[in-house]
Amino acid sequence: MKFEDVARLPLTTLPTSFYAMANLRATLGGPDLYIKRDDVMDLAHGGNKTRKLEYVFADAVNMGADTILTMGGIQSNHVRQTVSAAARFGFESHIFLNSPVPERKAAMLSGGNYLLDKIMGAHEVIIDGDDDAVAAAMKQTEQELIRQGKKPYVVPMGASNGLGSLGYMLAAREMMTQWDNMGISPSHIFLGTGSGGTHAGLLTGLRYFGNMDIKVVGISVSQPEEIKKQTVRDVLSQIRDVIDIPDNLVSEEDIIISGDYYGKAYAYPTDAANDAIKLLGEQEGIILDPVYTGKAMAGMIDMIKNKSLENARDVVFLHTGGAPAIHTFADLFLDKENKE
Ligand SMILES: Cc1ncc(COP(=O)(O)O)c(C=O)c1O
Repeated sequence: MKFEDVARLPLTTLPTSFYAMANLRATLGGPDLYIKRDDVMDLAHGGNKTRKLEYVFADAVNMGADTILTMGGIQSNHVRQTVSAAARFGFESHIFLNSPVPERKAAMLSGGNYLLDKIMGAHEVIIDGDDDAVAAAMKQTEQELIRQGKKPYVVPMGASNGLGSLGYMLAAREMMTQWDNMGISPSHIFLGTGSGGTHAGLLTGLRYFGNMDIKVVGISVSQPEEIKKQTVRDVLSQIRDVIDIPDNLVSEEDIIISGDYYGKAYAYPTDAANDAIKLLGEQEGIILDPVYTGKAMAGMIDMIKNKSLENARDVVFLHTGGAPAIHTFADLFLDKENKE
């Protein structure tokens, strides 16, 4: 199937804004820096999953679904946006959550995305176990719902399958238009890479729409470089299962990941990310989060400062959302302030 023929259900107002970060640029001393504000969207505070869900919900509606099931961490941004889309289409939602950082479980249950899920009427199941245990619980509920005569549809974790990732192909085309209108031709775009769909979709979209040069730099939020590269390769092949594109549209050299900035593990804060969050807040009035965008921004800043970016011209940061979770990390910032 051609990319243009895949069904999509609009869930937000597009394009999202794109503009220069002049203050941050002055602090870092160049190159010119820009931000793509995918954190501002219509689904309950927005974020990168909204674009993916436009394709996934089109599929769910086509299948005649009336109930959505999905899984993630207690503070999952993906889950919150999925629950918001479900509410908008009158679907029931069942969410299956675990705690990636056991010692922060109480904080995670204190507000942020979890609070928003509850407000939007999600039926939640909290599992003390790993992702396999969560997936098993979800499967069991899916079967139970079928027995009750419901039409459940499972949205994969992060909506990072071939279908969901098409949302970032569209984002690539949207940004290329914005760059043309501004007369810029960025050399690099940075983002946080988790389940890989945003990275794979963006890279595919840029090459598909004819931008063969820009480097997509994924800052891993959870695993070493080689593992994360494989995650992106897997999603790239899932995209090729959904739409007709040449096998070599994205080359192996195109897949750029840094595993240097995620710290101890997924969702564990790092000092560099906390500093980046404060810097962006103070200098640009932009809120990042400790799990994804703070780590991605810390990586971008470090690479700019250490001049490890070759031929950097205009550098773009893709803000993928996540700010609702910051409220459950208040201790990282308030305690520090109070001690000063
Ligand atoms: C705020 C934020 N940024 C980045 C990502 C990573 O996106 P992906 O899972 O498509 O790699 C996520 C995914 O959960 C997210 O919530």
